[in-house]
Amino acid sequence: MTQYIGILTSGGDSPGLNAAIRGIGKAALAQGMQVIGFRDGFRGLMENRTVRLDRTALSGILTIGGTILGTSRDKPHRMPVGNKTMDMTDVLYENYRNHHLDALVCLGGGGTQKNAFRLAERGFNVVTLPKTIDNDVWGTDVTFGFNTAMAIATDAIDRLHSTAHSHHRIIVVEVMGHNAGWLTLGAGVAGGADVILIPEIPYDVEKVAEDIRERSRRGADFSIVAVAEGALPTAQASEVAELEEQKVAADKKSERTEVNARLAELERQHGGNTLALSTQLETLTGLESRVTILGHLQRGGTPSADDRLLATRLGTAAVELIQKELYGVMVAARGDGWEPVPLADVVGRRRTVPLDHPWVASARAVGTSFGD
Ligand code: F6P
Repeated sequence: MTQYIGILTSGGDSPGLNAAIRGIGKAALAQGMQVIGFRDGFRGLMENRTVRLDRTALSGILTIGGTILGTSRDKPHRMPVGNKTMDMTDVLYENYRNHHLDALVCLGGGGTQKNAFRLAERGFNVVTLPKTIDNDVWGTDVTFGFNTAMAIATDAIDRLHSTAHSHHRIIVVEVMGHNAGWLTLGAGVAGGADVILIPEIPYDVEKVAEDIRERSRRGADFSIVAVAEGALPTAQASEVAELEEQKVAADKKSERTEVNARLAELERQHGGNTLALSTQLETLTGLESRVTILGHLQRGGTPSADDRLLATRLGTAAVELIQKELYGVMVAARGDGWEPVPLADVVGRRRTVPLDHPWVASARAVGTSFGD
């Protein structure tokens, strides 16, 4: 019989994490299990920093943003320790065994799924939940955190509309999402952005400017440009695509490392894209342009009702899987239900926006420009 389970949250925080912890914890306690939380992701498991998740600890956290456990982006197999980076997987395993854990539940995005998969291969009984505001975890319909972040970004676009309109300006609003466009697309459609730029559709700045000038000719002398942090102009997108191809073709680990370093360097260079875009649009349209970067605002605060519901559903489902001793899987949202998806299928893949997605089609139908 399952007696002890551990929980950790890893990667960027996201609204709904506490609802998920509560869902897992309360469902497990109801089955007579004991629940231990590890602080700050995989690092807490390595350093054996724990918190007992009893009824008192789980009470009153449903509506709170962030994670009561803390989080980090540490990876078990590449953990900074002192001034070295070491593979600490064996230490994590020893702690897992010393706590007599029957299962470990890891809550996180794509990176966490990958790290959890490595632990499963090492012998941990692992179940994961898909969490990230980016909504880019492969295998699930949706991730928790996304709905709240989309509402925050939509509210920001609503507010920017009135000031852009009053000053006859372009406002370029940068939305998070890493290399996926879900957040920008969702908030852009819901907020009525005039231009939506996402990583999946490389943009031509001349085309964006022409679409804005066309709006001006029709009497709308302001524009909202919602741009994903990972969106790229066509030339940069081709450079990245070429390197991605080289990575797939690379036979040796050293070649892949080299390509990864070049990709990381390009990503650093692309960091200033939103500011550059605003300046270019000002020059090309003759309209004043301002930039708003929403940043971490999108990850903070109270989770939406949708995210609380999703996180609770997936959290309680994780306990069902543990009772059945079904491990090495992620609890994926599937319609109103859920299903276990093998971690082996999830890792190494990213769920991006399909070019023919209905949200893209609707946006185009109402005249939104994608700069393509
Ligand atoms: O993955 C969530 C996310 O907010 C991304 O949208 C963003 O690119 C990244 O995390 C920011 O990471 P950090 O909080 O470590 O700066």
